[in-house]
Amino acid sequence: MPYSSILETIGRTPLVELKRFQPREGVRIFAKLEGQNPTGSVKDRIARVMLETAEAEGRLSHDKVILEPSSGNTGVSLAMIARYMGYRVKIVLPDNVTSERQALIESFGASVEFSDGQKGTNGAIEVAHQMVADDPDEYVMLYQYGNEANPRAHYEGTGQEIVDELPKVTVFIAGLGTGGTLMGVGRRLKEHNSEVRVIAVVPHPEERIQGLRSLDEGFIPPILDPKLLDGQFIVTSSESFELTRELLERESIFAGISSGAVLACAVRVAERMDSGNIVCLMADGGWKYLSTGVWTRPLEELEAEMGRKIWW
Ligand SMILES: Cc1ncc(COP(=O)(O)O)c(C=O)c1O
Repeated sequence: MPYSSILETIGRTPLVELKRFQPREGVRIFAKLEGQNPTGSVKDRIARVMLETAEAEGRLSHDKVILEPSSGNTGVSLAMIARYMGYRVKIVLPDNVTSERQALIESFGASVEFSDGQKGTNGAIEVAHQMVADDPDEYVMLYQYGNEANPRAHYEGTGQEIVDELPKVTVFIAGLGTGGTLMGVGRRLKEHNSEVRVIAVVPHPEERIQGLRSLDEGFIPPILDPKLLDGQFIVTSSESFELTRELLERESIFAGISSGAVLACAVRVAERMDSGNIVCLMADGGWKYLSTGVWTRPLEELEAEMGRKIWW
């Protein structure tokens, strides 16, 4: 059956076994490939549910601008979906994210306001709050960090899809950004089997991995309930680069850098297990990271840049 619009193609992403990362028989690693969504990331799911919910509640109007702080993926997804729905969008973006993100947001007709890249997404959140406070009649913010529609999109979508495809999940691993993925998928999987362990991947506090945050920076997203997490794994930027490359070299899967971080965690968890199924969520495809040269440049060169903290 043909889809009635591009919005209907969001979700139902493939779950692919990573056989070439299997440490021993009985321990299996699966990757949910969110890069297969229309704008190439998991954020299409939450942008659609947040926009549809806000529209149904009468919070959106064509005179107002939808304003959102984002490290990029949510911005691209909101720009794409709001364009289809006929609303205007402005995204507050740290000024050191990859150039593809700005280009994509602008291609979908949204505008970009930059925040200080050294402050990461926390800086973008501050700027967006200030803009709404200064001009409440101009802007409406969906605020992915505090919007229950974010984890709900994962509870009803991503989590349900995993339960349907792989009923026996032992460990679920995802990166921590807003916490929406971990909360929504975590709740759905634990409801199905209370023994499932949910593990958050966070960057080293002194490093940056685009899309991920360390809770040590002091901001805990309101939608995040740390009690639902069974563990946190710290991954360095260089491990993330390495595993992003290995994922492509061994499995021919072209995913973003936070997927490398998630895979680094999965490989370590798998080594400690005797049996069971690990599901990793690969949040985006590799397209938005081509300009970093992560697949083509020497690792030492990438690490030297990382030292200047241009990665977010
Ligand atoms: C590339 C990437 N990975 C992981 C995440 C984390 O997802 P969540 O916000 O659901 O915690 C994000 C979100 O910003 C992201 O952009």
